Amino acid sequence: MISLTEARDAYRGYAPAYDLLFGPLLQTARRRAIRVANDRPGQRVLEIGVGTGLSLPHYRPDVQLVGIDVSDEMLAKARDRARCGVLAERSRFHLMNAEAMDFLDGSFDVVVALFVASTVQDLARFGAEIRRVCRPDGRIVLVNHFSTPGGFSARLSRHLGRFAGSLGFEPYFPLDHFLDETGLRVAAIEPTGVFGRLKLLQATNG
Ligand SMILES: C[S@@+](CC[C@H](N)C(=O)[O-])C[C@H]1O[C@@H](n2cnc3c(N)ncnc32)[C@H](O)[C@@H]1O
Repeated sequence: MISLTEARDAYRGYAPAYDLLFGPLLQTARRRAIRVANDRPGQRVLEIGVGTGLSLPHYRPDVQLVGIDVSDEMLAKARDRARCGVLAERSRFHLMNAEAMDFLDGSFDVVVALFVASTVQDLARFGAEIRRVCRPDGRIVLVNHFSTPGGFSARLSRHLGRFAGSLGFEPYFPLDHFLDETGLRVAAIEPTGVFGRLKLLQATNG
């Protein structure tokens, strides 16, 4: 498990080069997820672990967007990106832990989490907080890598697990473990991203 300090240290390190390393590589999945999540006018959307804000260009201009992250350095980049775009007046960013959010119950129509689930510290608290701040019948849209149980890539990612703290994410991250811990009731799963190796999960809050 990754500690909060490890996550902050890892993403402080990634921040200057994050867009170069993980920008184009994951952009297809980001675009698809935001298209699914922000499909109606005037939605209140929370993006957890918004990072440097690479998803921002894909939101509708009428969204009310709140982005949170535990890394000051990543968040500073998201704020800069928002300032230069159409969401300047329609977005707010907070340094906040997804596992203990300051929002009231049911504050958002949609909660989005892109490549965050495998970086958080406690999946049960992460899932409980997402369900709490999303309104009843609201939607939860999440993209992540999920490990397959067998084969070479599972062995490799298990092996790399010992470096999770420095990497800033859990390389071995099975879907059933994620679902058990978070208690999310997923309605649809689709492959996405380059070679369909990532998964886009949609859940209804209720
Ligand atoms: C792999 S990056 C993904 C960033 C962005 N969503 C993207 O599409 O590139 C994971 C992000 O989650 C943030 N993070 C890790 N643990 C968190 C937590 N408990 N609460 C909020 N953000 C967290 C990290 O600081 C980092 O910015």
